[in-house]
Amino acid sequence: MLNFKKKSIFTRRQSVREDAQPEQEPQSDILAVWGSPGSGKTVTAVKIAKHIADRKKNVVLLLCDMTAPMLPCVCPPSDLESEHSLGSILAATHVTEALIKHNLVTLKKNSHLTILGMRKGENEYTYPPYEQLQAQELMDGLRKIAPCVVVDCGSYIANDILSAVALMEADSVLRLANADLKSVSYLSSQLSLLRDSKWDADKQYKVASNVKPQQAGEQIGQALGSVAFTLTHSQELEEQYLAGNLLADLSLKDSRLFRREVEKIAKEVFGC
Ligand SMILES: Nc1ncnc2c1ncn2[C@@H]1O[C@H](COP(=O)(O)OP(=O)(O)OP(=O)(O)O)[C@@H](O)[C@H]1O
Ligand SMILES: [Mg+2]
Repeated sequence: MLNFKKKSIFTRRQSVREDAQPEQEPQSDILAVWGSPGSGKTVTAVKIAKHIADRKKNVVLLLCDMTAPMLPCVCPPSDLESEHSLGSILAATHVTEALIKHNLVTLKKNSHLTILGMRKGENEYTYPPYEQLQAQELMDGLRKIAPCVVVDCGSYIANDILSAVALMEADSVLRLANADLKSVSYLSSQLSLLRDSKWDADKQYKVASNVKPQQAGEQIGQALGSVAFTLTHSQELEEQYLAGNLLADLSLKDSRLFRREVEKIAKEVFGC
């Protein structure tokens, strides 16, 4: 069981990279996308990963959701070259680089993007329970596999070891919120779980997500305070989400501001 009082998860471990020979470790950045439920974590994580892959840089997209596996929502099954499950990785006694590589989901059309997630129909009880160790070994392994890792975290970190570990291990965190009271209430409730831990608040970027035209600057400011990035609502993106086709290009005019902001985030976090 997780225990916040003992900070079993919410304590940033001594980074492996600090005591290993740094010159032999490949440079790698992990970005965790986290925030309130329904704020746009998944669509944002997918679009950032796609942007990096389109620039021919290798990226792994880790989809943590175990209650609603997101793999079937990212692209049509026919676009997948190989289908595996994140569950088989976490079920191992030890998560090795070879095991992760074997279970990466590859795509027919984009060799730079690989995905890890639960498959359609699976849930958290499909596999034996995993512990913090496996989640940490997975994050360490991912660092060795690709220069960029984007993690679509679940909102409910209290019950989700993988998302909690990803949040602690990430080099940067996008903290998404919608400009509404529920989002604000959610974050003020959850952030208190992190506040007393060695959670590094400096690595967080506050992001206003799915911002509609009527939620002009002032409303966002009132609800969320100052934000680093603003992701605007795009009808085209909403339609891609409904069609399960998030790896398609966003080409319409109403997506321009969203696309530009994704570019800014990728540049800031991954330098590309
Ligand atoms: N910028 C945007 N433009 C249009 N629609 C958006 C945008 N961001 C999010 N959405 C829509 O909001 C809904 C929730 O998005 P998404 O599933 O990515 O959120 P989430 O934070 O991952 O949710 P959950 O907490 O369930 O994991 C979807 O219908 C999605 O299309
Ligand atoms: Mg999601």
